[in-house]
Amino acid sequence: MREIARTAGTPTFVYSRATLEGHLDRLREAFAPIDPLICYSVKSCGNLSVLRTLAARGAGMDVVSIGELQRALEAGVPASRCVYAGVGKRDDEIAAAIDGGIGLLNVESEAEFENIARIAAEREKVVRCALRINPDVDPKTHRYTSTGKKETKFGVDLERARRFFQLYGRDRFAKLEGLHLHIGSPIYTVEPYVEALTKTCALIEELAKDGIEIRSIDLGGGFGADYETAQSPSARDYAAAILPLMLPLKARGVEFFLEPGRSIAANAGVLLLRVLYTKDSGEKHFAICDAGMNALLRPSHYGSFHFIWPVRPQAGFVPTQRSSNMAMEGLRAQDIVGPLCESGDFLAVDRAMPPLARGDLLAVFTAGAYGMSMASRYNSSPLPAEVLVSGNRVELIRRRETVDDLVEHERNVTVLL
Ligand code: LLP
Repeated sequence: MREIARTAGTPTFVYSRATLEGHLDRLREAFAPIDPLICYSVKSCGNLSVLRTLAARGAGMDVVSIGELQRALEAGVPASRCVYAGVGKRDDEIAAAIDGGIGLLNVESEAEFENIARIAAEREKVVRCALRINPDVDPKTHRYTSTGKKETKFGVDLERARRFFQLYGRDRFAKLEGLHLHIGSPIYTVEPYVEALTKTCALIEELAKDGIEIRSIDLGGGFGADYETAQSPSARDYAAAILPLMLPLKARGVEFFLEPGRSIAANAGVLLLRVLYTKDSGEKHFAICDAGMNALLRPSHYGSFHFIWPVRPQAGFVPTQRSSNMAMEGLRAQDIVGPLCESGDFLAVDRAMPPLARGDLLAVFTAGAYGMSMASRYNSSPLPAEVLVSGNRVELIRRRETVDDLVEHERNVTVLL
């Protein structure tokens, strides 16, 4: 890590190819009995080299914008292996997805379906669609990332779903043939999946009575990651709960999709930072780093825990686990903060860590998912660099931005009116 920091500088996201591949493989093995197309959720970490790594291992992609679809295509994933979700798809995005031959369009509302059907008919092109249903299940996760409760903006509730198929199920061009769910992220227990899928199975039986056959089920994402040691069920645990409900449908020929992001990328990445200064203020001890919420927004935005540890070998300070309350002789409570002009710019508050000093290199763990993809340029901070480690080979997969990059789009002013 020190060599990476020396050559790439900080802040830098560092990803492990073997971990990305291992996580994908474990999901595939666990869900093998229903043989799903695993569509990696590009929004969690969309670097082209990360996408290429997963694509080479057989992943499809879950995209939520035409920009993400373009990334997937550039990474060598055909559109037919991509699923496209999102509550607010623009007309040009829908048209491009249809023209490109998208694998599945996940539809979020009646108004959106009518728009998709119109655009498909204009182009006389058939597009496979799945209705995103909102099963009204509490995934017991952060309010901002809970998506399967009735009061959220996502999907169509179960009462309307049956009517939806009756109304739109026989469209010539927009072929409504599947169901899509994504109830939240991260979901640390299996029960919400079981509850949501039990309701889904009941809906499928009702639709069968109406003569409508469901051909595909997209189970979405949401599987947890270990921000703390042993926090999350494993791929096997989720599969053990989900498979009994899905196997009878598999036997009837239903095709399955999964959309994991965090469970693949989160623990495949760390964020490397440098301590610029330490500062004591009354009872508080601060370690001021060269990036904070601009590189990793999650602690500030969701109150999320990320384990942080100095890279320098700390005699006597070898953590045996990642925990939010480390109990070890000699640790002291410190706030790990960034350089931005906001008190909300923190990565950890009152965190028990070895005493830190100027120049220390810190590793922020479990930063591969929703790290770089949510990073901002606030305070004119250039975006971090990204590095991929594959065995002994270390590649810079996104160069660090420069201030020149930031002002480039502002140099030339165009008169509009
Ligand atoms: N499919 C759909 C339709 C989604 O909306 C999401 C995530 C996923 C799949 C992937 O979920 P995953 O497997 O990564 O849990 N920024 C937040 C997470 C937002 C998740 C948004 N949707 C965070 O940093 O925790």
